[in-house]
Amino acid sequence: MDLAGKHILVTGGTDGIGAQLIRQLRDAGASVVTTGLNPERIAATQAEGFEVISADLSTAEGVAGLVEAMAGRPLDVLVNNAGMGDGEHDHRNGTPDADYAAKAVSLNLTAPIRLITALMPALREAGAQRGGGMVVNVTSGLAIAPRGGGPVYCATKAGLRSYTQGLRHQLKALGVHVMEALPPMVDTRMTAGRSDSNKMSAPECARQIVAGMKANANEVNVGIVKALQAVHSLSPALARRILINF
Ligand SMILES: NC(=O)c1ccc[n+]([C@@H]2O[C@H](COP(=O)([O-])OP(=O)(O)OC[C@H]3O[C@@H](n4cnc5c(N)ncnc54)[C@H](OP(=O)(O)O)[C@@H]3O)[C@@H](O)[C@H]2O)c1
Repeated sequence: MDLAGKHILVTGGTDGIGAQLIRQLRDAGASVVTTGLNPERIAATQAEGFEVISADLSTAEGVAGLVEAMAGRPLDVLVNNAGMGDGEHDHRNGTPDADYAAKAVSLNLTAPIRLITALMPALREAGAQRGGGMVVNVTSGLAIAPRGGGPVYCATKAGLRSYTQGLRHQLKALGVHVMEALPPMVDTRMTAGRSDSNKMSAPECARQIVAGMKANANEVNVGIVKALQAVHSLSPALARRILINF
């Protein structure tokens, strides 16, 4: 897709990978609107000249508020990027917080489904009248196989991956391309507590995602996730064994 002149909504653009995505999409000539929650990070993103809609996407009301704010506007591309971890949902270390886990399910899986559904009329219009629409769902390399330390997070991303694949099949007929981006471990606030010298930088992760959007890729396996996919295609059991202790 030629991104110049496209109207793009990126959720969670006030930090991390999303903050790099909105800058690079704007540099590509797109008109970008984003969302956030934290007031300081919203103000900092607004100071860069972006329109930021405040919305807690882990709730149905928050998603409805965002949909209302987008009403009547053209929309060519929806990037479902906002996400959260599951707080290391680990029964070996005590009793995990089930409410926190439910919030992660809502933000990572339910919100993209709600948003895509509510914004489909605008995306259909892009597909029918403006040369094509696009949905980008940011999952994770952990959607391919889970790590033992974050089973809820991995389940949300595997669920979103499955939904994305089915949705791609449906929306082809409507001229709306559906892309999945699978980042590796990226150096953001989400992974701040985890030591891994091989964390990818957020700008490089965003660069690969934007390149995939320009190429109308079905899947963007970012960085080391390419190797993980290769292992998984030869032996799903081996890929699972590699990741489960991670
Ligand atoms: N970092 C990684 O290693 C990694 C790897 C694979 C996949 N991913 C995925 O990539 C995406 C971005 O992750 P990231 O590492 O860039 O995360 P991040 O740095 O923590 O940024 C998360 C973004 O989502 C927003 N957000 C958080 N909770 C929200 C809520 N309840 N409602 C609305 N917005 C909310 C944040 O807004 P505020 O700033 O206002 O809180 C922020 O803009 C996520 O879907 C994540 O699962 C990340």
